[in-house]
Amino acid sequence: MGDGVEESTFYGSQPCALGALAIKSRIAMETIDIAGQKGNLRVMSEQPQYAIEIDHLTKVYPATAKSPIKAALQDVSLKIPRGSIYGLLGPNGAGKSTLINTLAGLSVKSAGEVKIWGRDIHEDVKNAKSAIGIVPQEINYDPFFTPAKLLDIQAGLYGVPKAERRTRELLEMVGLTAQADAYTRSLSGGMKRRLMVAKAMVHSPPILVLDEPTAGVDVELRQQLWDNVKALNKNGVTVLLTTHYLQEAEELCDRIAIINHGKIVVDDDTRTLLSRMEAKEIHFHLDRNIVDLPDALRRYNPEQQGRRTLVIRYAPTEHSAGEIIAAVQGAGYGIADLSTQESNLEDLFLHFTKGK
Ligand SMILES: Nc1ncnc2c1ncn2[C@@H]1O[C@H](COP(=O)(O)OP(=O)(O)OP(=O)(O)O)[C@@H](O)[C@H]1O
Ligand SMILES: [Mg+2]
Repeated sequence: MGDGVEESTFYGSQPCALGALAIKSRIAMETIDIAGQKGNLRVMSEQPQYAIEIDHLTKVYPATAKSPIKAALQDVSLKIPRGSIYGLLGPNGAGKSTLINTLAGLSVKSAGEVKIWGRDIHEDVKNAKSAIGIVPQEINYDPFFTPAKLLDIQAGLYGVPKAERRTRELLEMVGLTAQADAYTRSLSGGMKRRLMVAKAMVHSPPILVLDEPTAGVDVELRQQLWDNVKALNKNGVTVLLTTHYLQEAEELCDRIAIINHGKIVVDDDTRTLLSRMEAKEIHFHLDRNIVDLPDALRRYNPEQQGRRTLVIRYAPTEHSAGEIIAAVQGAGYGIADLSTQESNLEDLFLHFTKGK
């Protein structure tokens, strides 16, 4: 073998529990039929540092009669650590789906390199594809198949032997056991989306990519999907997701990249990002009109709003709320009321994308 690639099935490190369900962590990808190529796959047993490596990726959609040339991705470089949940945020049209579609092989890159589980997506298509499961933004399914049939067919496409198919397990994982034999067209939108997650997992890939997994999904189902994603991640699956819900990114993701107009503008771990935005605000409603502010208060750059309201923004690492309250009182004002605000991911997102 020599290159660390084995000709056998890859086994994950440990068995796990997924809710009440014990899911085998076996990563079955020894056979696959992508682009009509059947046969035993040389399967990866290595554990790369990065599940996905994107290097200077550019995608230009050529001009058509109806639309001008569009650089949807411009020199994008990202490294998705194995085992992480990675969030890709960005406004509409930023290039998120283009990036996901490139990983899926649905969109052909114009320049740059992409490696999935250490395998170049063009040089080693089969191994790269077998390592990734993708839930596209647009739900695609055959309405006349049942969920069970759909998963079975998908597993067949990936060459998963009948005995190793996990159709029922996967349906249970996404809470569709009761719908296993119903027509897929009769499922609700949220159910179809969950079915797409199960479909992406039929070949037990070590990487799951979700393009807007919870768009249009109600609060309860969203929570269920988050639980599924967390459980899969706990079991060693690396997750890359795009989302518009900043709360989703904050709750789920270890790392976050923000993309705007096809360029990565931020890429950092979630905590660091949030601490970078360490701005707090105190709104003071004073007991009398503001007439003059002493230097001791001016040093905090207060902003006067109306006759009696003073807003002070500060970095909590530099100042404390108590110190600022004392300064206001020290200036001779009584505090009739006060409220505080903290910056969050939404501020960060707006900071990096608004008007740019
Ligand atoms: N097939 C295509 N042909 C031409 N232009 C395209 C094509 N697909 C996408 N684009 C353009 O590329 C840019 C990025 O689109 P993309 O779908 O990747 O954005 P997105 O970040 O996924 O947006 P959303 O949040 O709305 O899903 C947009 O300007 C879009 O109009
Ligand atoms: Mg999209």
